[in-house]
Amino acid sequence: MKTQATELFGIETPLFAFSHCRDVVAEATRAGGMGVLGAMTHTPQELKIDLDWIAERTGGKPFGVDVLMPASEGGEAPKLDLSILEKIPKRHFEFVESVLARHGVPDIPQDEKDALLRHFIDELAFTVEGAQRRLDVVFDHPSVKFVVSALGPAPADVVARARARGMKIGGMVGSAKHAKRHVAAGADIVIASGYEAAGHTGEVTTMILVPEIADAIAPVPVLAAGGIGRGRQLAAALALGAQGAWCGTVWLGTVESDATPEVKARLFASSAEETQRTRCNTGKPARRLSSAWVEAWNAPDAPPPLPMPLQGVLTHVALKRIERARREDLVSWAAGQVAGQLTGETTVRTIYREMLEEFSASVERLEAIVAG
Ligand SMILES: Cc1cc2nc3c(=O)[nH]c(=O)nc-3n(C[C@H](O)[C@H](O)[C@H](O)COP(=O)(O)O)c2cc1C
Repeated sequence: MKTQATELFGIETPLFAFSHCRDVVAEATRAGGMGVLGAMTHTPQELKIDLDWIAERTGGKPFGVDVLMPASEGGEAPKLDLSILEKIPKRHFEFVESVLARHGVPDIPQDEKDALLRHFIDELAFTVEGAQRRLDVVFDHPSVKFVVSALGPAPADVVARARARGMKIGGMVGSAKHAKRHVAAGADIVIASGYEAAGHTGEVTTMILVPEIADAIAPVPVLAAGGIGRGRQLAAALALGAQGAWCGTVWLGTVESDATPEVKARLFASSAEETQRTRCNTGKPARRLSSAWVEAWNAPDAPPPLPMPLQGVLTHVALKRIERARREDLVSWAAGQVAGQLTGETTVRTIYREMLEEFSASVERLEAIVAG
């Protein structure tokens, strides 16, 4: 396949794989697409280890890193320490405890809780400092060819450092207005993430968003994200004017994915309706698997979620407790409506093969319609 996206990176297939899991990233790149490592949950040290690991397994093929760059949003960029806890109302802590108690989630020792929280705050990715420390690692790594800025356009110094190293800059967006902002800041390619997508996403569907953004920023290429997990959807994305697709949910169900068995079980059992946009884990609307935890935050007695990053600080230890208790009914991982299409474990390589086969069949079907 040849599109602006394959040309930009010198790859065979315009299918990009977002994952926090290095095995998925390496395998997607090896399959001829491009893996992009989400660096949000990595400490800078862990990021370096994973980038080395991926580079060793991809033989010089390009891969990317996705970093939250909140400073560039133009808003306040808080420097964080434990004093942030004082900004969280007591009512919110009590509510979280009551939900865990109601569902019988075992407690963990106080010193462990303190350590988890301290680590989370120290390593918090969504601060200017946190982003900068991760970017320092990325810019030291010659195999990274693509740096993606989520939550806002990359600042000028980041663009300059990327350019100096021959890396391309991408921007995750949910509106044409934001897409233009990323392009003005120097983005080489924009990822248009629709309502169906996992994680932080806006209210406009991929079907509406992609052509709008493709027109708004032409000739800068666009990747379509949100609701793409099979070949017919890849064909649709290209028909909408995208130069490739960027997928997240579909990789969660692979053997390479480090999603826990509980998350995979919920993913395979869920319909598209059983994911929802909620502010309950991060403070910003993000699509995740519906669960008793998410429903508790939808209930009338729930306090309103706090703004980012307070809600993340509030819920971090609770989510760890749920994970440790291996509670399938309470897990709330990010997942998109593609979840409804996933029925059992597969491999990254199989997804690439099957998506391309179905893509080809779709194109043939459309050609036959035109010819007929
Ligand atoms: C588990 C998970 C975590 C995600 N975390 C991030 C993130 O940290 N940064 C980001 O830019 N996108 C994140 N995303 C969103 C993906 O980059 C992508 O836009 C989205 O998954 C595409 O839609 P799809 O889920 O329908 O494939 C995440 C997606 C998943 C499934």
